[in-house]
Amino acid sequence: MDQRWEQLKRECERCRACGLCEARHHVVFGVGNPQAEVLFIGEGPGENEDLRGEPFVGRGGQLLDTMLEAVGLSRKHNIYIANTVKCRPPKNRDPLPEEQDACGNWLKQQMNLISPRIVVCLGRIAAFRMISPDFKVTKQHGQFFEKDGVLYMGMFHPAAILRNPHQKPEAFADFLKLRDKIEEICTHTELRFDD
Ligand code: URA
Ligand code: SF4
Repeated sequence: MDQRWEQLKRECERCRACGLCEARHHVVFGVGNPQAEVLFIGEGPGENEDLRGEPFVGRGGQLLDTMLEAVGLSRKHNIYIANTVKCRPPKNRDPLPEEQDACGNWLKQQMNLISPRIVVCLGRIAAFRMISPDFKVTKQHGQFFEKDGVLYMGMFHPAAILRNPHQKPEAFADFLKLRDKIEEICTHTELRFDD
């Protein structure tokens, strides 16, 4: 697994399958534990992520980490975080369908190797792609949908919560639902509150 994972990462880091390769500083492959039972999927790298080569490292990422930690999850130990596209769209525009299609192959291979029990989609773009093209984040966030034995949940994107702080309690409730589901169905995810 480790070897296949490292090989996939190396191949992905050389990818030029869509136009987003032109202006990138880093391919943002993902971060976390590839043996995790829970996979988070965001939209695509922003400026900080492109410069650092890691997903969710700006203010949104800090908020995400805080909410994760409150339910015993962290990118260091028990989840993996990836994006629908691995290179930054210029001026943070939405990734185009053709860019998502080109990059979907990498995400699919990551999914196959991780083989998660639960997939959490952060925001509209990831939920459209992974759950349904008519997914409504405001109405359907926090609900689980089963597909091929995997449970999918859409959540508010951390950047959206920063723009609409009144949504924080509702957003955090989804993390509590996630924790409960992990305790119910995940056999080797250890929730950790020690660091
Ligand atoms: N927003 C995303 O959707 N993904 C990131 O990695 C950073 C910001
Ligand atoms: Fe390749 Fe994805 Fe980057 Fe496009 S966004 S160049 S498909 S890694």
